[in-house]
Amino acid sequence: MLPVSSIGKKIVMAVTGCCLVLFLLVHLLGNLSIYGGPGSLNAYAEFLHSKPTLLWIARLGLIGLFVLHVIFGLWLYIGNWVARPHRYVRETTLQATLSSRTMIWTGALILIFLAYHLAHLTLRWLYFPGERFDAMGRFDEFFMVTSGFKNTSVMGAYVVVMLIFWMHLRHGASSLFQTLGFSHFKYEKILTCLGIIIATLIVGGCVSIPFLIWSGVIGGNAL
Ligand code: HEM
Repeated sequence: MLPVSSIGKKIVMAVTGCCLVLFLLVHLLGNLSIYGGPGSLNAYAEFLHSKPTLLWIARLGLIGLFVLHVIFGLWLYIGNWVARPHRYVRETTLQATLSSRTMIWTGALILIFLAYHLAHLTLRWLYFPGERFDAMGRFDEFFMVTSGFKNTSVMGAYVVVMLIFWMHLRHGASSLFQTLGFSHFKYEKILTCLGIIIATLIVGGCVSIPFLIWSGVIGGNAL
């Protein structure tokens, strides 16, 4: 196996995590165009799909980032587990937060969510109401997205996963700054707050979409 130090692995986690957070921000900003109505979301989706080469370069980059983040995360987790002296003794990690202790599990859940999310909205294998086009002849992304989230179980599943995702992001965002050098104790509180703010902004934006569709604020009343 490659001789990568623990800090080397953490740096890979921090850099890939940072890029994934940037992707999420861009993805969220694009998705928020749903608040502009069908015309706005359909125009955004058409713009994305009109640049297949760029889209595939971005997708491959994203897959690479996910793979590195998962492999190095597992590598760190297994390394720490093996090095732990009393791993059979009941844990008393009073200092560590619930978010930091469950990173491996919340991360695994995000992977499962991602497979479900791609099957739902990118591959359109689940809750796909069928092809429909708007007055301008564009694929009706708005209709596709709102149809899925009007289903209570789908909306509920997204909201619950997003709340668990908040824990992963909250710890990941503050610890990536520490790994990248802002580790002085003076910054500890600031970094914790920054992690909470980043996670709350991203997750709040993500949760708002399925919830407001389900409640009828976006796309009409479905209840
Ligand atoms: C609940 C809020 C979210 C909504 C409403 C949403 C919406 C969408 C939609 C509509 C697409 C399909 C775009 C298209 O091809 O036309 C998509 C794709 C995608 N989403 Fe999300 N998304 C959400 C949260 C997330 C989260 C939290 C992640 C990351 C863990 C994520 C990662 C992705 C990825 C990787 C794609 C595939 C992009 C591609 O086509 O290559 N999404 N999402």
